[in-house]
Amino acid sequence: MEIRNSDRPRGPVVIDIENITKDYVMGEEVVRALRGVTLQIRRNEYIAIMGPSGSGKSTLMNMLGCLDTPTSGRYEFNGKNVAEMDDDELAAVRNREIGFVFQTFNLLPRATSLRNVELPLIYAGIESERREERATQVLADVGLGDRIHHKPNELSGGQRQRVAIARALVNNPSIILADEPTGNLDSRTGQEIMALLEDLYSRGNTIILVTHERDIAAHARRTVHLRDGIIESDEVGVMPAMESMAAS
Ligand SMILES: Nc1ncnc2c1ncn2[C@@H]1O[C@H](COP(=O)(O)OP(=O)(O)O)[C@@H](O)[C@H]1O
Ligand SMILES: [Mg+2]
Repeated sequence: MEIRNSDRPRGPVVIDIENITKDYVMGEEVVRALRGVTLQIRRNEYIAIMGPSGSGKSTLMNMLGCLDTPTSGRYEFNGKNVAEMDDDELAAVRNREIGFVFQTFNLLPRATSLRNVELPLIYAGIESERREERATQVLADVGLGDRIHHKPNELSGGQRQRVAIARALVNNPSIILADEPTGNLDSRTGQEIMALLEDLYSRGNTIILVTHERDIAAHARRTVHLRDGIIESDEVGVMPAMESMAAS
């Protein structure tokens, strides 16, 4: 693994989790999805969270995004204990600090690109003229200026994911949490989405990318491997995608 000085993160710690566990209780059975994860992520890092299916990646992402609460352990977001945040503070983190991108896009099927991207601005209480202006701008930024009145089923997979990325960006979050964002895309379209994430990273955003694909993780500057709910390795540096693929 190549380590370049320019790749070393220097920003303040934004995500600080210590010994996080997550149990899912299903009747008699308990699934121990996370079994003690400790992780610090600094501002403007580009980190890939890798691991086989079922290793706890999505569970960890849901914790990081304050979409779910851990069974035990400590989580500080921007220096503040998440367990002590009230509903308004949690909503503010989820709506303003973090932009979520999912494998299945999670767009409203009957709504146009514009309406889908406007949605977080409605929650943020922005009035309609400002909303439309801002959503139109962000859609243009992701290369969809000519698709604002299309509905999801009138768009290609890559275009749908770009709408989802525009929606994630519309409130100007500093952190992008992307769970398998290229999982439903062909490899060329996937690379287009990765170029978009690279651009966001170069503009100062923090990118947290969940993937089980090496060539997708190779875009990140740091790679954390999960296995059976624990961190198996945590390495800084750009992963040489082609070599590691050829070696495996
Ligand atoms: N809502 C849930 N209820 C019960 N078990 C779950 C739930 N979500 C995930 N799991 C289990 O937790 C483990 C980790 O799942 P997940 O975080 O989705 O893994 P990954 O994203 O790496 O595929 C798996 O064994 C999965 O079956
Ligand atoms: Mg998953």
